Amino acid sequence: MIDNSHWIFGYGSLIYKVDFPCLESRPASITGWVRRFWQGSHDHRGVPEAPGRVVTLVPEKGAVCQGVAYRVNEDVLAHLDFREKNGYQRVLTPLHFDDGNQCQGIVYIATEHNEAYLGEAPMTEIAAHIQLCAGPSGSNQDYLFRLAESLRDLAVYDDHVFELESLLLANKK
Ligand code: SIN
Repeated sequence: MIDNSHWIFGYGSLIYKVDFPCLESRPASITGWVRRFWQGSHDHRGVPEAPGRVVTLVPEKGAVCQGVAYRVNEDVLAHLDFREKNGYQRVLTPLHFDDGNQCQGIVYIATEHNEAYLGEAPMTEIAAHIQLCAGPSGSNQDYLFRLAESLRDLAVYDDHVFELESLLLANKK
């Protein structure tokens, strides 16, 4: 039997919004990348006039980014390409599973060369930006809070995400 399934690595909304059929899912990590709220979102958590801020991966030597890997059938890729169309591209990467096994997988990354890229900014600015934005998939802060919650559920500590969550929660007080 021909196996035309692929492993996809999710590190942002793909961790908590699984709107596609998957054959199996496992916690996994990739090396050399950190999660950052540096990508603009025109179509999910913002609008073209006021793009939200969502995560992408930024290269950093020796870093480990933890998330969830999904094994999906080939036809799911078209759905994911459409969902991630605002600047993300498929990148092939080695995926590491908790049991020590490794395989080749696909990760969606939005590089600094895409038009929607917003890049680095002071954390207080990023938090204020997230607090204000909303788009067709919901509020930008819901994206952040759900990501932080799902990382905690996975026992993953991400100082960038958790600092933004604390800043937003402090703003609400
Ligand atoms: C991902 O979750 O892996 C990509 C970024 C996103 O859709 O939030």
